[in-house]
Amino acid sequence: MNVVVLVGSPRKRDSLNICKEIESRLGNTNITYDYIFLNDYEIKDCRGCELCFKKSEKFCPCRDDISLIRKKIMLADGIIFATPVYAYQVPAPLKRVIDRMAFLFHRQELVGVPAIIVVTSDGGGHKQVSKYMKMTVTGWGCNLLGTISVISPMYFENKKDSVWGYNERYHNKINLHIEKLVHKFKEVVESEVPRIPSFYEIFMFNCLRSKTFTSQADHDYWKEKGWLDSDYFYNVPLNPFKKIFGTILKRLINLASKKLKNRICES
Ligand SMILES: Cc1cc2nc3c(=O)[nH]c(=O)nc-3n(C[C@H](O)[C@H](O)[C@H](O)COP(=O)(O)O)c2cc1C
Repeated sequence: MNVVVLVGSPRKRDSLNICKEIESRLGNTNITYDYIFLNDYEIKDCRGCELCFKKSEKFCPCRDDISLIRKKIMLADGIIFATPVYAYQVPAPLKRVIDRMAFLFHRQELVGVPAIIVVTSDGGGHKQVSKYMKMTVTGWGCNLLGTISVISPMYFENKKDSVWGYNERYHNKINLHIEKLVHKFKEVVESEVPRIPSFYEIFMFNCLRSKTFTSQADHDYWKEKGWLDSDYFYNVPLNPFKKIFGTILKRLINLASKKLKNRICES
């Protein structure tokens, strides 16, 4: 099993240490870890040409290491996304990766890949960053199992440069959360049974499908995947309520999207 660990911090400290904690608890010799330290890669700013959305990511004019990072992520059986909070956001290297891979919000290449998010901070902005990362990771199609949000000075004993002091109870609480999440991660990675999507996920699936009406690249990708008419990204038994919910949404969105397409064609 290949676990990819995407480390957004320019330094190898708090977020990395939480990932190492996860690694030690996963404690399985069958697992290989591929640490991607984003600061070691050349990642250029997105130029906003939208060619990745409209035609294909192959037309991206930036020549750098983004394809290498993407290839590594695509090989993952599980992914840990680790980031510190920088000025109430993720640090620039991670933001650049998310911008450059924005086409994944339209063409989900990571459907069902189990994922964990790790966020470290000094106590401010972790909720915003956790929410942002959740939107990103689920938007890419991953099966997000949970987030470990750590206030570093309260968790790491050696941190003295903060108003927050080390707190043993907090440290143990986080470790317990890590333990539970690692257990879930192992279970899901080893399981053959596909996860049943929630109402929200069915809603999102149908909303995302609407993009296929305005982008040929998205349409071709969804068609190739067999998602244009399916109930969800993968074959899974849905209860009658979810099935009806999905069918109604599909019809409504098809109707709205066709009107939008006509308007675009007329103008
Ligand atoms: C440029 C910069 C901006 C930061 N901004 C915030 C912030 O907005 N909120 C916060 O709680 N911590 C902030 N921090 C602190 C880090 O999030 C925190 O120390 C984290 O544990 C660092 O993790 P790392 O060692 O993996 O980089 C900032 C640190 C730096 C260097």
